[in-house]
Amino acid sequence: MAGKFQIKVTTSAESRVHSVDFQNIPFGKVISDHMFIVDYDGENWVDPRIEPFQKLEISPANLALHYGQSIFEGLKATKIKGEPVLFRADMHARRLNVSAERMCMPQLPEELFLAGLKMLVELDKDWIPEEEDFALYIRPMMFATDEYFGVHASEKYRFLIFTGPVGPYYPKPVNLWVEEVFTRAAQGGVGEAKCAGNYGASLLPAVRAKKNGYDQVMWMDAVEKKYVQEVGTMNLFFVMDGKVITPATTGTILRGVTRDSFITLLKSWGYTVEDRLISIAEIADAYWRGTLQECFGAGTAAVVSHVSDITWRDRKLELPPVDETHRPVGTRLKKYINRLRLGLEHDEFHWLQYCNNSGVMEAIQLEMETA
Ligand code: COI
Repeated sequence: MAGKFQIKVTTSAESRVHSVDFQNIPFGKVISDHMFIVDYDGENWVDPRIEPFQKLEISPANLALHYGQSIFEGLKATKIKGEPVLFRADMHARRLNVSAERMCMPQLPEELFLAGLKMLVELDKDWIPEEEDFALYIRPMMFATDEYFGVHASEKYRFLIFTGPVGPYYPKPVNLWVEEVFTRAAQGGVGEAKCAGNYGASLLPAVRAKKNGYDQVMWMDAVEKKYVQEVGTMNLFFVMDGKVITPATTGTILRGVTRDSFITLLKSWGYTVEDRLISIAEIADAYWRGTLQECFGAGTAAVVSHVSDITWRDRKLELPPVDETHRPVGTRLKKYINRLRLGLEHDEFHWLQYCNNSGVMEAIQLEMETA
């Protein structure tokens, strides 16, 4: 398959991997040796290639910089017996195209996404950390490359993937502020797309919350400021009275791949999972009745991030301590996903994909040259 796309590979003269302190890798700051690039010329995806990671030359008139045609994905690779494996890469390829459609960008063939991704991860496999809670984070992105700035849908685009080793996104449980002034997304908007603007718009409320001592904001719906949405970096799950509840994806929140995986796992373990609207009043009510047992965020970067407390106006809802006794659901999910990615659990739902399973390395050998 990789051959079908004739991916040209130019390797870096020397790997930087030996200069990395794998015990100390702040999220997003360490980037691996190579990146995959393919360009859209207005009609076709052309010139797929792997190159040493390097800066891009961008015109100040670049359309993405002005009007935000920029989308991305986030997924992870780990190693099983020394072989790189990807977690639900096909689902990420599909979701990228859902975001692309909403942002009026071209569809990228899923096979091209997967072929480029597998080659890249295989090539940089020495960058994949092997301890539990660590992984190679993969950042696919697509952005407009037209260089004239009248407001329009760009004709040309670039798709790019780069990677970097990461540890836990939130090293400790997070405390959340229920945000009722700013909103993340409204019906008919772009809340479901993984587009750059959603993250840009979240920064001011997040910084304000941080100044007041909160790690993140819990977004409410845009109309009634009543229904819980997501945290921005992750979807939310609540455990109440033994049932697991996650806010419904009604068009304003991201359809998380981790969210989907957790729903599937929990159902297979016999839990009742309710995928529905849930109001902050219902959560507070459960808290006062003593039936709010757990709250955690779920995301690729965050995996499971336990919530220590939620502040809603002047009320602070304090969740139980984080251990297997008090948080059986969140801790079991986290342990299972981490173990699955290391090959220590049976891959019942076929979520793992090996990188070197389709002649990928042969294609690399054929076309390899060094920068
Ligand atoms: C992810 O979980 O991969 C995300 O994209 C959220 C954030 C790190 C931007």
